[in-house]
Amino acid sequence: MTESPTAVLTLDGAGTDANWWRQAAVYQIYPRSFNDANNDGLGDIKGITAKVPYLRELGLDAVWLSPFYPSELADGGYDVADYRNVDPKLGTLADFDEMAAALHAAGLKIIVDIVPNHSSDQHAWFQEALAAEKGSAARARYIFRDGTGENGELPPSDWGSIFGGPAWTQVADGQWYLHLFASEQPDFNWDNREIRDDFLKTLRFWSDRGVDGFRIDVAHALSKDLSEPLPNKAGLQRLEKLHNGSNPLWDRDQVHEIYAEWRALFNEYTPPRTAVAEAWVDQSRRARYASPTSLGQAFNFDLLMADFEAASFASIVTKNLAEANATGASSTWVFSNHDVVRHATRYGLPALAAADNAEDGKTQDGKAWLLAGGDESALDRELGLRRARAATLFMLGLPGSAYLYQGEELGLHEVAQIADADRQDPAFFRNKGIEVGRDGCRVPLPWTATDTSFGFGEATAHLPQPAWFADAAVSVQDTAADSTLNLYRKALELRRHLQGAEQLDWVENANPDVLHFARPDGWNVVTNFGATAVELPAGTVALSSVPLVDGKLPAAATAWLV
Ligand code: GLC
Repeated sequence: MTESPTAVLTLDGAGTDANWWRQAAVYQIYPRSFNDANNDGLGDIKGITAKVPYLRELGLDAVWLSPFYPSELADGGYDVADYRNVDPKLGTLADFDEMAAALHAAGLKIIVDIVPNHSSDQHAWFQEALAAEKGSAARARYIFRDGTGENGELPPSDWGSIFGGPAWTQVADGQWYLHLFASEQPDFNWDNREIRDDFLKTLRFWSDRGVDGFRIDVAHALSKDLSEPLPNKAGLQRLEKLHNGSNPLWDRDQVHEIYAEWRALFNEYTPPRTAVAEAWVDQSRRARYASPTSLGQAFNFDLLMADFEAASFASIVTKNLAEANATGASSTWVFSNHDVVRHATRYGLPALAAADNAEDGKTQDGKAWLLAGGDESALDRELGLRRARAATLFMLGLPGSAYLYQGEELGLHEVAQIADADRQDPAFFRNKGIEVGRDGCRVPLPWTATDTSFGFGEATAHLPQPAWFADAAVSVQDTAADSTLNLYRKALELRRHLQGAEQLDWVENANPDVLHFARPDGWNVVTNFGATAVELPAGTVALSSVPLVDGKLPAAATAWLV
């Protein structure tokens, strides 16, 4: 591999402060599984602070912390018992302030996760609602209904929760409450002004503490139309396909009235606080969330759901850049997060049966493989990682912001073999036999090859780590020039100098397995999705995902040229 000095890349990457997010490389930390400073088996805030030098060296612009608030961990922290505090298992508010100061001092912005659709059933308000009477103000903060059937013994509707099982749970006095996720996650009633005001208070609380932005969990679910009669499950599914805001539960236009209030609050700060919507909506509806009068940016999961394939990648990029242009947001890109099978693993699986993906029958989302037992012999680890490195380098070359998930910089594969007794994900418990859940991408990181819990902490990690983590450990990769960790470091370092206009031109080439794009600053990205090596266009290779062979770009590889 020929490597030219980074100095050839001369664009000023800083941008104005208010726009820091537009082309930021954001690293998602799943706090419980990042680094355990107090040696109780659970990652914590001080653990993150201790790794600020690591994060800085990686070359990131921001970190996004998954929830660290007080929680019973019924859904890995997405069941929040107190929105304006730190889980005592993870630390204190003072620890948070110390971490924030250390991150800021290292030049890293902080994004925190806000979970507005539901609280934990341990939240004081839900406990109050349980103790209160039917029709009380305390119950009106959530969604309580009488049941159906002769004596109200049946739920108000036949809706299922996202994690499996019914979406309604009955309480002692016979009423039912709605939970789109686990029963420990009762949905808030966003028609209630008190809820709206309380979340404004929460957003202000963290903004005042120096948080730079927010990731909004299930952003498309807050507004609901629960007027009677409620449609049945089949009716819901029919409405869902219309993508016109008529579904009573998801993606209603009214949700943006909530976000308009949030935006006004964000804009009171200098620079304005940012927000990115986690909204699994049709592409045609995403722009509403990304609008500058709403949250300002929205996750685009299109690449994450696509096969490693040139035509799909090209059309996804073209569509999303056009959309970003139209809304004034920048596009987002992501391959891995705490909810999906890691991309190194997805790309190493053979094409799976249609059941794995109802849409096109070929997307290798990996869930079917996990469910079938995660057979290692069906996984080509090397090919998966090679493709993942190529895909990541492709993504990091794109204009827009890139969201990375902890551990992908180590090329980690999904941990497929987890005993039932060790599993934590509610999707596993509520969906038995249908999916195994998301624990396999949430296993604590390996920092060293030989220490207890691979340097995560001095106690056994809260999810078991496999023996092969030793080879992927930070300590092993740190000094290995061609490691995935060093590939990420080099790519992120180069990227920092390359934040020009948010556009690209596709450069024609005769090979349908090859994508080549050029950015206005002269930076070129070439990805070979095929199985044979290809000639590279003229230019100096600044970085490649694997070494070139006889000057050619090998199969499943990306090169950056200047
Ligand atoms: C989001 C989170 C996921 C969580 C769910 C319910 O999809 O990413 O982890 O389980 O919301 O809060």
